[in-house]
Amino acid sequence: MSEKATIEIKGKKYEFPLLVGSENEVAIDIKTLRSDTGGVITLDPGYKNTGSCESSITFLDGEKGILRYRGYSIEELAEKADFLEVAYLLIFGELPTQEQLDKFEADIKENSLVDDDIRKIIDAFPKSAHPMGVLSSLTAALTAFYPRSVDVTSEEAMYKSIVRIMGKFPVLVAWCMRKKQGLPLDYGDDNLGYVENVLKMMFKNPNRDYEQNPVLIDALDKLLILHADHEQNCSASTVRITGSSHAGLFVSLASGISALWGPLHGGANQAVLEMLEAIKEDGGDTKKYMAKAKDKNDPFRLMGFGHRVYKNFDPRARIIKKAADEVLGDLGVEDPILDIAKGLEKEALQDQYFVDRKLYPNVDFYSGIIYRAMGIPVEMFTVMFALGRLPGWIAQWREMRMRKEPIGRPRQLYTGATYREFKTIDKR
Ligand code: SDX
Repeated sequence: MSEKATIEIKGKKYEFPLLVGSENEVAIDIKTLRSDTGGVITLDPGYKNTGSCESSITFLDGEKGILRYRGYSIEELAEKADFLEVAYLLIFGELPTQEQLDKFEADIKENSLVDDDIRKIIDAFPKSAHPMGVLSSLTAALTAFYPRSVDVTSEEAMYKSIVRIMGKFPVLVAWCMRKKQGLPLDYGDDNLGYVENVLKMMFKNPNRDYEQNPVLIDALDKLLILHADHEQNCSASTVRITGSSHAGLFVSLASGISALWGPLHGGANQAVLEMLEAIKEDGGDTKKYMAKAKDKNDPFRLMGFGHRVYKNFDPRARIIKKAADEVLGDLGVEDPILDIAKGLEKEALQDQYFVDRKLYPNVDFYSGIIYRAMGIPVEMFTVMFALGRLPGWIAQWREMRMRKEPIGRPRQLYTGATYREFKTIDKR
């Protein structure tokens, strides 16, 4: 498309190229706006209308509720692929052959040992520490053991860094849970698949054998796939902007973990369960919480509802809602919280406030119900989100560095005091 956008400022017209993506999305290329106009910039708090990059990793259509990783639909990937296949697809751009997948898995296993000094770091945390803060710290601490920032010009060095963090991260995730529970740390078992190993490290007690449950394996594999990437969400953008200063991969990931922790982002899955528990304690009075969510004077929001991009059902929420019924049924778990969630969803979808604002359940609304049925503590829910999102963050970071993108440094519109002379303290 050679068309252009024309902006008129104080009677002068300026033209800027229109860029068209592979899904026919259109962007105004304003790379020369400030220089062309002598200093005019755009302002867009929260970047609701502003693209930060071109990317070929994940495509979302918020109006149609479409999510695709490298062109493959989330529905098909959740049904037909496993998490490591999807991780490979997101990071390297193609679904792996059996040989590539076997090598990827073997190299991840080869790099899954965590230096015992990391144990000393985790031991320094009180049991009361939130596991997201611990996970972010441990991930950044890995840099101490691999100090040289990865040479992104070398495919080999990049690959080594990727399998290193893909191998060690699940161990750190499991250790965060074991630390809170006062259980000994488990180093995992190379004879197990990726997800089986995560479950064993999390749940095997030292005094008895651990029996793998295929329902849990399948549920966790699907949940990790559904959380694996989501284009330029808050935490992925944080990973990109941190990495754009050429900070290393591990510390960039640590910054993404911190961003994900927030209750408006990944922390919502914990906040949803706490909200549903509160409603249950309140005798299931969903109307009271709906009223609070609509009350502008009340900071309360219906957690797990709404989305910056999806103005239709989050396709992941549909899949997770179905999986919740299946998993709880297979595990023989009766959880009144699921019924409260379904009741709340039904009410919200019929409520004018929610309909007008196109607020639908998002990925976080049902996921915690499955995690809880699996025996995962509520404070670990966002850590599980991070485990799923790891390959997405890696893919975003790698794409940004391989494309040699410039350091992220937004402009601002200054609205503070204009020049004033200094006043000595006796004159203030
Ligand atoms: C994730 O970006 C991603 O892709 C994220 C994610 C990923 O995979 O990485 O999908 C994961 O973070 C999912 C979102 C999890 N967060 C929550 O569930 C928290 C609750 N939801 C929100 O706080 C909110 O919906 C956001 C943060 C998700 C999106 O907020 P926006 O896009 O900035 O929208 P907004 O805050 O400007 O809200 C628009 C209107 C406002 O009302 P008005 O001022 O127009 O009257 O909708 C209202 C808001 O008050 N609103 C809500 C609401 N969400 C928005 N009102 C009540 N409850 C809610 N949940």
